[in-house]
Amino acid sequence: MARPRVLSGIQPTADSFHLGNYLGAVRQWVAMQETHDAFYCVVDLHAITVPTEPDALRRRSRVAAAQLFACGLDPEQSTVFVQSHVREHTELAWVLICLTGMGEAARMTQFKDKAAKFGESAASVGLFTYPILQAADILLYQANQVPVGVDQKQHVELTRDLGQRFNHRFGETFTLPEPFIPKEVEKITDLQNPTAKMSKSSSSPAGILDVLEQPGPLRKKVMRAVTDTGSEVLFDEENKPGVSNLLRIQSALTGTPIPDLVARYEGQGYGTFKKDVAEAVVETFAPIRERTEKLLSDEKELDRLLAIGAERASEVARRTMATVRERVGFLPKL
Ligand code: TRP
Repeated sequence: MARPRVLSGIQPTADSFHLGNYLGAVRQWVAMQETHDAFYCVVDLHAITVPTEPDALRRRSRVAAAQLFACGLDPEQSTVFVQSHVREHTELAWVLICLTGMGEAARMTQFKDKAAKFGESAASVGLFTYPILQAADILLYQANQVPVGVDQKQHVELTRDLGQRFNHRFGETFTLPEPFIPKEVEKITDLQNPTAKMSKSSSSPAGILDVLEQPGPLRKKVMRAVTDTGSEVLFDEENKPGVSNLLRIQSALTGTPIPDLVARYEGQGYGTFKKDVAEAVVETFAPIRERTEKLLSDEKELDRLLAIGAERASEVARRTMATVRERVGFLPKL
């Protein structure tokens, strides 16, 4: 039997991935390329839903792609590509936009959060239709599974609804995807504000661990992470969110179960524990940073890898879109 297909995307909106992206998404993607037919894209079309500098977008798209390869995505095994290279994403998005109710789109909580930041009327229509473009990304490849963070679950549900609606109205066309949410790592929080998600848009620099950051600043940030009253290393999300976050991080990076870590640091206070967390972070990130720098030093080669990915993705996308065009009733072009 054919391998199940997986698709996911990451936005090129920062100059580095952070620990939350790495543990919550990219590491999962790398694992899944072994067992799945994997498609991963740098979603530059999504990035322009908020005001974006062209030079920054170009730079960040390459940085994102380089990091994906540096984190272990193998261009032979996975199809890694840039969303805007495959025109069918926007084409299918339009068809799906026309199947989406205004009220349905208006219920998307991420839009409401983001729009609130800009002021309701300053937010672009693109931001409003963002989840529908995401649905197009997924449906275009007939993906079975979509590894995402919990905050994206609603978008995958919308994707299923739209796929199902299209299938009912025009005939079986799309595979309905399942969200795949890795449990243990769904909650990597801000080091300075450990009850809030580690996030590029809302965390301060001191609260985020960037994959491409140098060891010095990384260590400093971990050592200065907010811990909680008391001095015991205990996993207690409610009363010790800061320590619990660091435990989750160390466990995810070293593979040691949390209870074993708690036992190891019994009676030792926070100092040694934090030092070890910092080392685990540095040991994970340093080789990724070095590989990323190497990939970025040869833009031509990087662009060549992305062209290969785009070609493979296009083959699938073209096939799906040909069916969609026919089903919807667009005339064939002779
Ligand atoms: N919206 C996703 C995020 O912010 C990124 C994304 C775009 C995505 N298209 C996708 C994720 C398709 C999964 C599948 O994390």
